[in-house]
Amino acid sequence: MTIPTLKADFERHFGVPPDLLLRAPGRINLIGEHTDYNDGLVLPAAIDKEIRFAMRLNGTDQIRLAALDFDATYEVAVAAIAPIPDGHWANYQLGVVAGLLRHGAVVPGFDCAFGGDIPTGAGMSSSAALECGVAWGLNELLHLGLDNMTLAHLAQKAEHEYAKVMCGLMDQFASLFGRAGHVVELDCRSLEYAYFPFDTAACRLVLCNSGVKHALADSEYNTRRQECARGVEILQAKNPKIKALRDATLPDIEAAQAELGEVVAKRCRYVVEENQRVRDLTAHLAKNQSLAEVGALLYASHAGLRDDYQVSCPELDTLVELSRQAPGCYGARMMGGGFGGCTLNLVATDKVKVFLAHMKQGYHDQLGLKLDTYVTTLADGVGEFLNEE
Ligand code: GLA
Repeated sequence: MTIPTLKADFERHFGVPPDLLLRAPGRINLIGEHTDYNDGLVLPAAIDKEIRFAMRLNGTDQIRLAALDFDATYEVAVAAIAPIPDGHWANYQLGVVAGLLRHGAVVPGFDCAFGGDIPTGAGMSSSAALECGVAWGLNELLHLGLDNMTLAHLAQKAEHEYAKVMCGLMDQFASLFGRAGHVVELDCRSLEYAYFPFDTAACRLVLCNSGVKHALADSEYNTRRQECARGVEILQAKNPKIKALRDATLPDIEAAQAELGEVVAKRCRYVVEENQRVRDLTAHLAKNQSLAEVGALLYASHAGLRDDYQVSCPELDTLVELSRQAPGCYGARMMGGGFGGCTLNLVATDKVKVFLAHMKQGYHDQLGLKLDTYVTTLADGVGEFLNEE
C-alpha cells in the first residue's frame, strides 16, 4: 500500500487527513527460538515486510479502527475497551490502549487506518507489528515520552491479555529495535542488546512459507511455557541459583532426570542447548567466520525444536529436509512459535534463484502444496514516514 493510498483511505473513512504516518516491520529470527521467555538469548531482525499506519486524535472518546486489507472497521469508547472473543483483529490495538491506561496515560479517542504486506500466520509477527505500531503512534501523538523498551513490554502485555498468547519479548523488541542490515542479539534477562552487521551480499535470508498454521499453535505455546516453569521449579529445588532455564546446565538436567521426567527434561535440554547456539552464532558473526558453520547451527536448532521441544510439524520438517539438497543452502530451520509458518534458509546470494525453484518443486512433489517464498532484506524498526515514499 502506497502512502498516498493510505492517506486517501484514511480520509475516506474518517473525513479528514491523518496527522501521523508510520510503519512497523515484521521480523525474522536467525536463532534463539523459545528462549525469550526463559530469560535467554535471541537473535532477531526487522524485515522489509511491514504494516503502515495513518493516525490522528479525533477529539472524541471513541477509538475508530479501519483494517484496510480486509475492509473491516471497529469502534469502541476508550472507557469500554475489553478483550474481544474469538481472536478479533482489534484486540492487538485495544490491548495496547489498555497498557497505556494502566501506565497512567490519559488516552483520548483516536482514528487509525492500517494495512500492509506481512503475511498473517506465517511466523513473521504481524501481530507484534500491529501492537508496536499503535503503541509507537500513540506515544508520539500524546507526547508520552515512553522509551522503546517500555513500548515493547507494553505491546507484549497486550498479546498476553488481549490475544491470550503468553509470548516472550522477542517479536515486539525486534519490530521496535530493528536496524537496516543488522541482526540484533537481545539478552532477555538483562535487556542488553547488541547489533551485528549481516551482509546480504554474501548470503540471503530466505523464508519458505509452509502455508499451514496448525490449530494447536497457541495452546501448545502456552503449554511449553508451563513445562519450562515446571522444569525450573524442580531444578531450583536442587540448586536455588537456578531462577530460569537460562541458569541451568546440561549436567543439572542430567542429575534431575528422574524428577523432571522424560518430557520436561527434553524441553529443558533444548532450551539450554539453544542458548549456547545463540552464543556460538554471534561468535561466528563477530569473527566473520564460515557460513557453513552458521548453517550447521541452524540445522541443529531445527533438530532440537523437532525432537526435544516438539514444536515442528511435517510440513516444516519437509521444507528443512528439502533444503539439504537445495543448491547454495548453508542451513535452515523452522522459525517462530512453530506448528506452521516459515522456515528460515541461509542461501548463497548467487544461488537464490535455483534454490527457490528446487524448494517449490520439491514441496509440490512431496506434499502437493504450493510454496510462497520471501527473500528478505533487514530493515529499520518502527518509525515515522517523513516523506511520501
Ligand atoms: C513467538 C513468540 C515469541 C517467541 C517465539 C519462539 O513468536 O511471540 O515471543 O517465544 O514464538 O521463539
